Amino acid sequence: MTLVAGVDSSTQSCKVVVRDAGTGALVREGRASHPDGTEVDPAAWAAALQTALGEAGGLADVAAVAVGGQQHGMVCLDVDGAVVRPALLWNDTRSAQAATDLTAELGGGQAWADAVGLVPVASFTVTKLRWLAEHEPANAARTAAVCLPHDWLTWQLAGTPGLDALVTDRGDASGTGYWSPMTGEYRPDLLERAFGSTPVLPRVLGPAEQAGVVAGGGAVLGPGTGDNAAAALGINAEPGDVVVSIGTSGVVSTVSTTPSADPSGTVAGFADATGNFLPLAVTLNAARVLDATARLLGVDHDELSRLALSAPAGSGGLVLVPYLEGERTPDRPRSTGAVHGLTLSTAEPAYLARAAVEGLLCGLADGLEAIAALGNPVRRVFLVGGGARSEAVRRVAPAVLGVPVLVPPPGEYVADGAARQAAWVLAGGETPPVWPATSTETYEADPVPHVRERYAEVRDLTADRT
Ligand code: XUL
Repeated sequence: MTLVAGVDSSTQSCKVVVRDAGTGALVREGRASHPDGTEVDPAAWAAALQTALGEAGGLADVAAVAVGGQQHGMVCLDVDGAVVRPALLWNDTRSAQAATDLTAELGGGQAWADAVGLVPVASFTVTKLRWLAEHEPANAARTAAVCLPHDWLTWQLAGTPGLDALVTDRGDASGTGYWSPMTGEYRPDLLERAFGSTPVLPRVLGPAEQAGVVAGGGAVLGPGTGDNAAAALGINAEPGDVVVSIGTSGVVSTVSTTPSADPSGTVAGFADATGNFLPLAVTLNAARVLDATARLLGVDHDELSRLALSAPAGSGGLVLVPYLEGERTPDRPRSTGAVHGLTLSTAEPAYLARAAVEGLLCGLADGLEAIAALGNPVRRVFLVGGGARSEAVRRVAPAVLGVPVLVPPPGEYVADGAARQAAWVLAGGETPPVWPATSTETYEADPVPHVRERYAEVRDLTADRT
């Protein structure tokens, strides 16, 4: 049996799966936690990766490994390859003003969408680099290379072979704001505009191109990719399939054969990990909305779900706008959450629980609508991520999204996608190896447009704080 490993270095933890390259069967797995916060020393990711790999039995008998990781994080390296400052993560919103400034400087959303398929928001690397240049000029001056979390971990596994050996892939490069999915080329002019100079950037590998070998071990390294592209590969999403992921972020994405350019910025026109494209809408507030509501009500997740399902659709007019960490879609980085419509009858735990589930799903429904409005067919919706374990989320999702929802069993789909990429690098060929499709449970419900209408009214009352 030939073994391959896949890594998911996510916001909250590092997961490793070891699978049979031929059948995809799970052989071993491991995990380790990451520190909290939106700014993290990459050394913590490397340590967690080693712990998770150890728990998964190591790489000695593994033929290939690939790393999937949280997108967009800014990892700055000095001329010797040392990390210049802690990485700013995708959910760090300090570069919101830089995003506004960069958008205006290039002439607005259309110009950015045409150039790189996205409109700057605080999540994207290009805005973090502008922030660094403006607020930490000494760190900016020391920065000789910039890469993403998954690029840096791949480089660590390769034994840090020099800045010129940094590599990335189309999927993660497309989330920087200085690489174009349409042309497959970097836009050094945009990097220069944002940062004032053009540090070394990772070479962009093809979907199944070898990235080197693990130092001292010999396992082949895959190019890796961003977590959303890896999840699409792990689920084997095809054009027409939509993946809704409720993790730390809420993500609605679909595989498309053509690049997209949404001047409103609601949909980011990323690339995927197979040579296709991955238009995607992301909310900053997803599974943790459920965590926060459970905490507020003093209940666990099962009870939160039971409460939510005991209240009527629309929660009697009670709306929870879930911008607990500011929001990215819509772009309201300084907004806060809100509860609206309290009456004597809705001031009940069940109504608040239901409003939280509906608010979270209404944010994702806005993303789905925007993706469909760009001409992407919505053939099937897969619901994944920690939040999809909630029975209330599974049952309310088809009503709010207005389409049936397929729920695969809980799993590490990002790490699985990375493992499948590793198997592809070994096997070669134009398409990834076929692994058996996961079973899914189908949830259907009558659509509830009034829930989304009422949510939209309240959502638009929540202006950004200044
Ligand atoms: C995608 C995004 C998030 C992170 C989370 O644009 O910012 O989904 O990749 O890991």
